[in-house]
Amino acid sequence: DRTLEVDLSSLAPGQDMTVQWQDWPIFIQRRTPQMLAALQTPGHIATLRDADSKMLQQPKDATNWHRSVRADYGVLVGICTHLGCVPSFEKPGSAPEAEGGYFCPCHGSHFDAAGRVAQRAPAPYNLPVPPVTFLSDTKIRIG
Ligand code: FES
Repeated sequence: DRTLEVDLSSLAPGQDMTVQWQDWPIFIQRRTPQMLAALQTPGHIATLRDADSKMLQQPKDATNWHRSVRADYGVLVGICTHLGCVPSFEKPGSAPEAEGGYFCPCHGSHFDAAGRVAQRAPAPYNLPVPPVTFLSDTKIRIG
């Protein structure tokens, strides 16, 4: 079976979890209103390489400003698009700039909570978004 069902009921706002799907780590985050506001801040958008995700990297139903089917949950393939390290979650509020994005420890690429890469990062593309279907309010299928 190439699909994976994930129960999101234990995921609190501002938290993330990682599951394995087809040998890839998949990051799932539950977004707070602050995280969503940060994604839309013009000053932040100006720092992104591909703010509108024109270089594909996501299914049609996630081609929007939050790069997800539902704005309150983000689902991303957790492999850095530079050389494949696994970025770590920056818990919202843990640092001045931390709004639930991801930082790759290998060469310092930064991705925001929607997986959009910073202009100044070595990684060339935003993090990919896998196909996601909501089976209920707290259950998704990946794949
Ligand atoms: Fe992530 Fe190089 S592998 S920045």
